Amino acid sequence: MVKQRFSTVFLRLKWISADLLASVCLMKRAVCPGSFDPVTFGHLDIIERASAQFDEVVIAVLVNRTKSSMFTVQERMEMITKTTAHLPNIRVDSWSGLLVEYCKSNEIQSIVKGLRAVTDFDYELQMAQVNLQASGVETMFMATAPAHSFLSSSLVKELAHYGGDVSSMVPKIVNEALKARVAESGN
Ligand code: PNS
Repeated sequence: MVKQRFSTVFLRLKWISADLLASVCLMKRAVCPGSFDPVTFGHLDIIERASAQFDEVVIAVLVNRTKSSMFTVQERMEMITKTTAHLPNIRVDSWSGLLVEYCKSNEIQSIVKGLRAVTDFDYELQMAQVNLQASGVETMFMATAPAHSFLSSSLVKELAHYGGDVSSMVPKIVNEALKARVAESGN
């Protein structure tokens, strides 16, 4: 009797774990890569909309070799973690190699990028094509909401540097971090 109950429970557990394994393997996972130096309302709009389309979205803070940064990778990750805390399927990570290598080792099938204007298009198209050819990973472009189409981290940093008001462009904690960093730099 006890033996029979045990085997029934065991069989059920096996069935549940096989089901769980299948759903994890079939998960639709995407990455939103970027410098996020710092994260803006434009990024957050894309992240929120991507989180509604995929089972899991990884926000990968990457090193862009062509840009110098104001915040460390750790600081950028913390700001993203705090400002996306309301989204259940977001994971924040960092990476300093090729994006497609990150996708491969994390079983990510799609890259999600926001397109603000035609000025973004040439470069983004080139990267999407290189990434597709190198790895088969697809890039999905999302149209930036018109309210954010002029917004970039570089513009926010420039405005903050000269004491401009960026409160409508970034979350409160990012605004405070910007003010503190500008005050620290003292110029
Ligand atoms: O926010 P950014 O700076 O526009 O993001 C650009 C970024 C970091 C996503 C891009 O430079 C990138 O993917 N870098 C990782 C290295 C890589 O895979 N390069 C593209 C193929 S050559």
